[in-house]
Amino acid sequence: MTAVNQDIDIATFVGKSAIQDLGPEIEGVQVWGPETNKAFRKVFLTWYDGESRRLPWRESKDPYRIWISEIMLQQTRVQTVIGYFARFLAAFPTIKDLAEAEEDQLLKVWEGLGYYSRVRNMQTAAKQIMSEHDGIFPNQLADIQKLKGIGPYTAGAIASIAFGIPVPAIDGNAMRVFSRLFMINADIQKPANRKIFEAIGQYLVDPDRPGDFNQAIMDLGSSYETPKQAMPELSPLRDFTLATLTGTTDHYPVKSKKAKAKPVYYHALVLKNAKGQVLIEKRSQHKLLKNMWTVPLIDVNDFQDSGQTPDEIAQYLVAETNETYGIQPILMKKEIGYVKHIFTHLIWHIHLNYGQMTPQDEKRINNMIAAGQGNYAWVSPHQFDQFAFPTVQMKIWAAYQEYVKAKE
Ligand code: ADE
Repeated sequence: MTAVNQDIDIATFVGKSAIQDLGPEIEGVQVWGPETNKAFRKVFLTWYDGESRRLPWRESKDPYRIWISEIMLQQTRVQTVIGYFARFLAAFPTIKDLAEAEEDQLLKVWEGLGYYSRVRNMQTAAKQIMSEHDGIFPNQLADIQKLKGIGPYTAGAIASIAFGIPVPAIDGNAMRVFSRLFMINADIQKPANRKIFEAIGQYLVDPDRPGDFNQAIMDLGSSYETPKQAMPELSPLRDFTLATLTGTTDHYPVKSKKAKAKPVYYHALVLKNAKGQVLIEKRSQHKLLKNMWTVPLIDVNDFQDSGQTPDEIAQYLVAETNETYGIQPILMKKEIGYVKHIFTHLIWHIHLNYGQMTPQDEKRINNMIAAGQGNYAWVSPHQFDQFAFPTVQMKIWAAYQEYVKAKE
């Protein structure tokens, strides 16, 4: 046998654990048989019935709500999502409202959640649903999979939770749990291995309660089966989990090393006009955080790290600001703060500088704003909630406030 879990002979545990029978080899993984599968689902769903988290999107099977929650939960923690979920539904109660929303309003409701392509894709999908499905969320897996922004995991989650379709929802939680159950020696970060976990999930999922089964995996993944599993012996699945039975939970899941996030260096310019308002800019279509507002960010990646003095840095910043924006603010030489922000593949290191606009430059920017050029705006603190600011901008603002406070 060349099973992916060849380190273990599962037959040794038959009758000596909760495992009662041997089953087929699935994508190279030797699994337990149908009797054990039944017992396993029963134990797992009984645990879920008693201990599942009460979450707002679990209160109905409305596919629109489940879709919103699943998209938000892709890269964001449950506690954070709860508030956003309610605000999103209040702003866009129906698929039609979402399809017809203004982009600025969409981004505003998503502000701070990050990964903004998620909400843009949702709007595209909402338009698809309006034009191709008469505004009714499709109830067939193949149609759900065709919606923009819905990958295999999300399609499985929506199909099983909203429509009771017996399919798995394979995300990092599911791969971690299944890896430990069967001691699967397949790298969960290799896309080619996904089919192993899909097939195992299809074998395990409860055909009568697929949505609950998949959500039980999610709850387990955030309680007893976290990445750094502290107490595997407390998991409701302990007697089924080969890694726990053999004391090898530390080895699973198998993961290749992550590529290191690349550092990127910016100077953020807090530039004030005579009225004390701060200059902000809407980022271009072609950049990360596209169409979101930030203070001017000057790219210093070709410049930093060779020991420049504050004088030299300030000179460079004024020259770059002139080149990019056609203005020459009066910059304070000393930096006023620092912010670090981590994206999936990038780490932004942002040093903050403060400056005053000259009257000519202020006029120049005002003319551009009046002519609708360049996407600039002046913002006073009380106007803040009119703009969609990404988290990194909130951090820049907080660092600036801290500087102001310290000066007082
Ligand atoms: N993570 C992803 N989907 C989830 C859900 N439906 N409930 C809890 N956590 C989740």
